[in-house]
Amino acid sequence: MASNLLLRRAALAGTAASAYAAAVYFTYQFMTVTVENVAAAQTKAKAKATSELSTSHPSNDHCNCYTSITDPKRTLTFQNIAQVYDDQISRDEMVMGLPLLRRSLLYFNATGDVLEVGAGTGRNLDYYPGCVHKVVLTDTSDQMLLQARDKLKDYSTINKAKFELFVADAQHITEYYPESSFDTVVDTFGLCSFDDPVAVLKELQRVCKPNGKILLLEHGRSKSWKGLTNYLDKNAERHATNWGCVWNRDLDGILEEAGLEVEKLSAWHFGTTYYVVCKPSLKVKQEKKEVRKVSNGFEANDAAGAGAGAAASSNEKGGRLNTIWNTILRR
Ligand SMILES: C[S@@+](CC[C@H](N)C(=O)[O-])C[C@H]1O[C@@H](n2cnc3c(N)ncnc32)[C@H](O)[C@@H]1O
Repeated sequence: MASNLLLRRAALAGTAASAYAAAVYFTYQFMTVTVENVAAAQTKAKAKATSELSTSHPSNDHCNCYTSITDPKRTLTFQNIAQVYDDQISRDEMVMGLPLLRRSLLYFNATGDVLEVGAGTGRNLDYYPGCVHKVVLTDTSDQMLLQARDKLKDYSTINKAKFELFVADAQHITEYYPESSFDTVVDTFGLCSFDDPVAVLKELQRVCKPNGKILLLEHGRSKSWKGLTNYLDKNAERHATNWGCVWNRDLDGILEEAGLEVEKLSAWHFGTTYYVVCKPSLKVKQEKKEVRKVSNGFEANDAAGAGAGAAASSNEKGGRLNTIWNTILRR
């Protein structure tokens, strides 16, 4: 009797595991099919992409080393797919249980003043707990943020007031916000899309309060499933072309190089999705201060003003991006 029950349980567990494996497999297959739709939408949208932001990235046309994986015009890809982005990925995310992971990450860990980078179309909006004080959603793509703004239109006035949208480059986020200004810093599925994910993670640590938290939900290569990683490697270029996303990055390496103090890490989907709760490293926060001190000294001694020039030009960039954004907001 007992062995019968055990057998039935084992069969049930086996079926559930196979269904889960099949769902993940078909999701990856499905992505392969849907990229064709995205490519079509991209071609259409490219014609319309007149935003000044689209031309603000340096051209690398002269370089015969071009690949989508190292594309410095990545934001343009997101500008072009912004309108179809949610439609294209919602089903995949549902099948993979990502809404649950998003909800759990934010519900259990987000508090106080929150900064979200690479916020895209605002797919986390619904999952912020009531206890958060303010949430600033930032992204380099104004078109992606406009989708988030549309979602906020359905929120009650009180809930809406908590959220701010801001066009900002995560790699230079301390040029927009002072160090240690946020209790929680969030990035979901951004490390695959940032040009320099390590540089971004270092910036996030600087802008996070010393006792604050950095919450990450990311995807990358699997350490345990070689076949799956081979598939990701083989199709990385095409996937990056269509989605602006490098899906085979080494997340362990990135986290380690960025010096984060990881408090909790769980891997999902055969090791391709990472759910991470971490703290900023005081060493990294210090690093920047030391670099700044040195560069200030250089400026003072040399009177060349090279550093000041760089700061001015980055402020100009921030100012220009947000002038565009404010113009759009007033439409
Ligand atoms: C794959 S999407 C993820 C969107 C959203 N976080 C989510 O969970 O669905 C990556 C986003 O990062 C943005 N992005 C890319 N490079 C960026 C950068 N340097 N700074 C800020 N956002 C960036 C893109 O515009 C895009 O909206």
